[in-house]
Amino acid sequence: MCGIVGIIGTEPVAERLVDALKRLEYRGYDSAGVATIHNHVLDRRRAKGKLKELEKRLHTEPLEGMIGIGHTRWATHGKPTEVNAHPHISGGVSVVHNGIIENFKTLRAELEADGYVFETETDTEVIAHLIAREMTRGAEPQQAVQTSLTHLEGAFALAVIFAGHEDLMIGARRGSPFAIGYGNDEEPGMYIGSDAIALAPFTNKISYLEDGDWVVLTKNSAAIYDEDGAEVSRKISLSQAGALIVDKGNHRHFMAKEIHEQPDVISRTLSHYIDLGAERVDFSELDIDFKTLPRLTVSACGTAYYAGLVGKYLIERWGGLPVDVDIASEFRYREPLMADGGAALFISQSGETADSLASLSYCKSKAQKIISIVNVQESSIARESDEVLPTLAGPEIGVASTKAFTCQLTVLAALAIHIGVQRGVINEALEKELVRSLVEVPRLISEVLSHESDIDDLSSQLSHAKDVLYLGRGVSFPIALEGALKLKEISYIHAEAYAAGELKHGPIALIDETMPVIVVAPEDDLFDKTISNMQEVAARGGRIIFISDADGEAAGCELSSMIKLPKAHTFVSPLISAIPVQLLAYYTAVHMGTDVDQPRNLAKSVTVE
Ligand code: AGP
Repeated sequence: MCGIVGIIGTEPVAERLVDALKRLEYRGYDSAGVATIHNHVLDRRRAKGKLKELEKRLHTEPLEGMIGIGHTRWATHGKPTEVNAHPHISGGVSVVHNGIIENFKTLRAELEADGYVFETETDTEVIAHLIAREMTRGAEPQQAVQTSLTHLEGAFALAVIFAGHEDLMIGARRGSPFAIGYGNDEEPGMYIGSDAIALAPFTNKISYLEDGDWVVLTKNSAAIYDEDGAEVSRKISLSQAGALIVDKGNHRHFMAKEIHEQPDVISRTLSHYIDLGAERVDFSELDIDFKTLPRLTVSACGTAYYAGLVGKYLIERWGGLPVDVDIASEFRYREPLMADGGAALFISQSGETADSLASLSYCKSKAQKIISIVNVQESSIARESDEVLPTLAGPEIGVASTKAFTCQLTVLAALAIHIGVQRGVINEALEKELVRSLVEVPRLISEVLSHESDIDDLSSQLSHAKDVLYLGRGVSFPIALEGALKLKEISYIHAEAYAAGELKHGPIALIDETMPVIVVAPEDDLFDKTISNMQEVAARGGRIIFISDADGEAAGCELSSMIKLPKAHTFVSPLISAIPVQLLAYYTAVHMGTDVDQPRNLAKSVTVE
């Protein structure tokens, strides 16, 4: 996902733009660039690859100026080359953009017919030419941008600067997040960025454009307009992004740090939803009557979708409420029938995933009550929700989600208890039992983490595999799915997960002595059935890695390896089983030498379809 930044102030901006872009690296990118205006002249530097390449370019060819824009590009249209890197320029107009212009081909043909020559393969370049064309027709910058926006279809957050105008920057937002940062009397200046983390070095006074908004900035002011051109005001809040130290600590990767943060951030999340003294859940701020609610519709993507699957098992089994779960990219086009008076739950770490946001809009149009479980409380999904249940995982920088996932599971487990109590299927004694099991989770996870060196050893074998199969039943099946995704996305080894009971319906044909089979099987009511599936695998020479809180002898067959888990209440077993599958993926990727925190082709938040 691309990142945009802009600064208009009284100090040189080039280095500060790069600093801001470094705080957007977690979004994933493959090229970067900055543009500034100095003595009325617009100039830019761009580079393929990581920001250090751009820094080298700026070191040899410095850029002056106290107004500028910057961009980290995750290629959507056109290869990740220097030519395709933003900012793009046309006739003294320079643009950076996050999102997709869906009608760019039509616009490109129209502009070429008007004599505009395109240098790049990108959709973004049409924006620069559109604005330049309006200015050649006599429009002032503000009008030129406003008119150009009416031609664009798709999602974007964009920022524009103009040669000859050293105290003017214009930004616009439609579907992709856009933050404005306000300077102060000591350090006058205005800032724009894809999120508050990018602006944290400069200010914590942040406001967010809403869809359709555009903004005219000078170094001392921000005038915000809606898509009809009416001036509007957007709340200025104090962002917490700056308070959170975003570094690796003593870990080799952000992912390792975030795996090890789980006991702490799960404790923090639990304290938000549990009255520890009374050993009861506390959802007093959640204004939904689950007693009368007919069903709950859940929609999410990737790891968050797997959290939703776990949530289905927990909320149906313990809360007594029917739950539908769907992948957001399918849900949004399936246009499902929604129960009158129903509620829809959206799970998202970033709160900016395009498919999840589109599904939310669909459910809103069907008069559903919207609940979201998000890690970024200032995000678009949070702002569009009636009720927000935050995960308190802190910024998750590694592209592969770990601590956000287990915090999502934590919120879902606590919510399942709340729903069961409201629906009268959980009495006081059971509530206390389940709450106690949740309160034990941080300690149990710490215990699993204390054996990570065993998993490191085991992962070196896994790193030679070409294909890996994950198996699980019941609430462990989504954990098998999550394990397969983790391995795929950071080690690039093909992996897939199946419900263990499905093995005989086809996948068992895959089994031979070259195939590692990772079986997630805590001792629950489905344990014996999973064991018999595992024995079928062993009988065909499969190399079994057994993840369980049972003793190895319970397997009743030869195991390649065993990852022993601490005993845990069945209610919280998915939170515990998630840890070994995270560690297996992490250490396998380390052995493979891949870019663990920013795996190839991936972005931290998929804000485009
Ligand atoms: C998880 O490791 C992946 N990075 C990806 O599947 C992610 O979970 C998915 O894109 C959803 O993102 P969100 O939680 O920010 O909506």
